[in-house]
Amino acid sequence: MTVNFPPGFLWGAATAAYQIEGAAHEDGRTPSIWDTFCRTPGKVLGGDTGDTATDHYHRRQEDVRLMADLGLGAYRFSVSWPRVQPGGRGPASQAGLDFYRALVDDLLAHDIRPVVTLYHWDLPQELESAGGWPERGTAHRFADYAHLVSEALGDRVELWTTLNEPWCSAFLGYGSGVHAPGRTNAVAALRAAHHLNLAHGLGAQALRAALPSRAQVSVTLNPSAVRALTDAPPDLDAQRRVDALSTRIFTEPMLRGGYPADLFADTASLTDWAFVHDGDPGVIRHPLDSLGVNYYAPSLVSAATDSHPSHDDGHGGGDASPWPGAGQVAFHRPPGKRTAMDWSVDPTGLHDLLMRFTQEFPGLPLMVTENGAAYDDKPDGQGVVHDPERIAYLHAHLDAVRRAIADGADVRGYFLWSLLDNFEWAYGYSKRFGAVYVDYATQVRTPKSSARWYSQVVRTGQLPPY
Ligand code: FCB
Repeated sequence: MTVNFPPGFLWGAATAAYQIEGAAHEDGRTPSIWDTFCRTPGKVLGGDTGDTATDHYHRRQEDVRLMADLGLGAYRFSVSWPRVQPGGRGPASQAGLDFYRALVDDLLAHDIRPVVTLYHWDLPQELESAGGWPERGTAHRFADYAHLVSEALGDRVELWTTLNEPWCSAFLGYGSGVHAPGRTNAVAALRAAHHLNLAHGLGAQALRAALPSRAQVSVTLNPSAVRALTDAPPDLDAQRRVDALSTRIFTEPMLRGGYPADLFADTASLTDWAFVHDGDPGVIRHPLDSLGVNYYAPSLVSAATDSHPSHDDGHGGGDASPWPGAGQVAFHRPPGKRTAMDWSVDPTGLHDLLMRFTQEFPGLPLMVTENGAAYDDKPDGQGVVHDPERIAYLHAHLDAVRRAIADGADVRGYFLWSLLDNFEWAYGYSKRFGAVYVDYATQVRTPKSSARWYSQVVRTGQLPPY
């Protein structure tokens, strides 16, 4: 059966600055925490860095043409904070801003709507050295940076996102330490989560103050589609804890104006949350134009027992946990197919999340801001890259979006992760998520079969029969 998406549905692809730009030392850009982390032995697979990445900084025009050839209606990218505000405070770098002005102009010339994310994990190193996200001042620095970018791009960008996946910034960056800056301190992770929330609120205010009224402000989360192994109360309690730490720690303050009581109770032995000041909840809660949802795979949890000890949650990491206060939770491998990340393929998690937010936050439009899969793609003898597994993944997940819309969810767009193969954080270049294959030795781009397939979907607004 052929199915149609609503008229005006935004069809896009997503990237992030550090993962594609390269040019790490050009035009005044200063190091971010990822530059430092990549140089810390043992942190990134193969010692890979984002120094060159996909060289998008120099291949911007070619990449925008690629998007236009695919027929994309929108492109979600992030701005590199240390490129546009070296050192993370003080005046803007005009050279840095010029890159994004030119990118936006190229996109608009091809009728591709720019969707700007202000923070996709590349904190200026100087701000980390001053304490990073566990310190309140970082949230104020972020608001200054938001102001500076909105002044530069506000005349031509309508769709704005404050943060990408603050859960990863806080809990992988400061809890398990598998992401930059690589700290492993449960309290620092909780403090970071609060200051990211505060940064979102202050940043959203700064954007509204500088942008024309037609501008739309959003945030992108990676809520966890977390299932309990059984309906037994201890397993349901494990599910509740993970839900509080992954999802409600952000949605409740951002959309309702306060932290969930169970989160405070679960973490009471670690902190009294005195870093939440009077007045913060009112700042963090900011009326949003949409909520961005990133989805890859669900989680399956139970209470830890002798036969199910506490177990890796699929985000890598060793002993340090990204789940403070949830030591009694065991993570299980969901059954079924898996991607090259070893993440399970289960589109029902995406449908569940879209329906959950539809029920919890009626009237708030949703946007799938990332979804996709890594596979071990290789060109064949003719240089063609066939990736039928990715097509199957995308088809199944788009079908889940379509079902959610049919069930009443107001989903306004879908962004494939990712336009190009790129630097996959701690996995370096070993994981390929792109619809377009990148030969890192030559920087030649080759659209995979999935790019052609997605292009058909984008052009017709229909999911073909599968
Ligand atoms: C998300 C990140 C994105 C990319 C995908 C695979 O968590 O936002 O940068 O790494 O995962």
